[in-house]
Amino acid sequence: MQISPSLLSADFARLADEAARVPDADWLHVDVMDAHFVPNLTVGLPVVESLHAATSIPLDCHLMIADPDRWAPGYAEAGAGSVTFHAEAAHDPVRLARTLRSLGARAGLALKPATPITPYADMLADLDMVLVMTVEPGFGGQRFLDTMLPKIAETRALVQRSGCDVWVQVDGGINEDTIGLCAEAGANVFVAGSAVFGADDPDRMVRVLRDMATAASPLTTDS
Ligand code: DX5
Ligand code: ZN
Repeated sequence: MQISPSLLSADFARLADEAARVPDADWLHVDVMDAHFVPNLTVGLPVVESLHAATSIPLDCHLMIADPDRWAPGYAEAGAGSVTFHAEAAHDPVRLARTLRSLGARAGLALKPATPITPYADMLADLDMVLVMTVEPGFGGQRFLDTMLPKIAETRALVQRSGCDVWVQVDGGINEDTIGLCAEAGANVFVAGSAVFGADDPDRMVRVLRDMATAASPLTTDS
């Protein structure tokens, strides 16, 4: 069970300091938005490059951008450990996933709430992660969509059927009330923005959330 705190809820003027507040995080989730694919604008490649140099925590880049076929490989080259692009935006998702892997990054495919996993079942062998969005992408602090729980379970079932080691990530509205539901449904990587950086002790919240996921997950042996 892995926790990926989203820097979207951190202080953008002090990103390296904010990263240092969550030393127990498995990943740092960086939300890249281009004001085209989503109606919000955040950071891009130069910030990811600088952040990579400033922290030893691996970067989990979530690209909410148009034309990831063109732009996503740059994030792998910049040192991101994981690069996730949106299915709705990619022209050739299989080719892009293979390119990201060839550059040394894990390849992730993200699905907006209305996008089903089934059309992508055949490409699981080319993926390291599927991100099931549990809010509409674009903003932090939104309410968790519990209607996504069946899609999390369906994604986990397809992964198990494929025999591939593909992680199932959830992002949006993940907190102490919702993480157990997602873990129970089969997620194993949890993005949390406001729940972590809005906490008095963000690193303690990382550990609390991981423990809750471990306790609820059918994938862990000690649950
Ligand atoms: C939303 C982003 C999320 C966001 C989650 O489009 O992809 O990563 O930071 O924020 P919370 O955890 O506050 O819902
Ligand atoms: Zn995200």
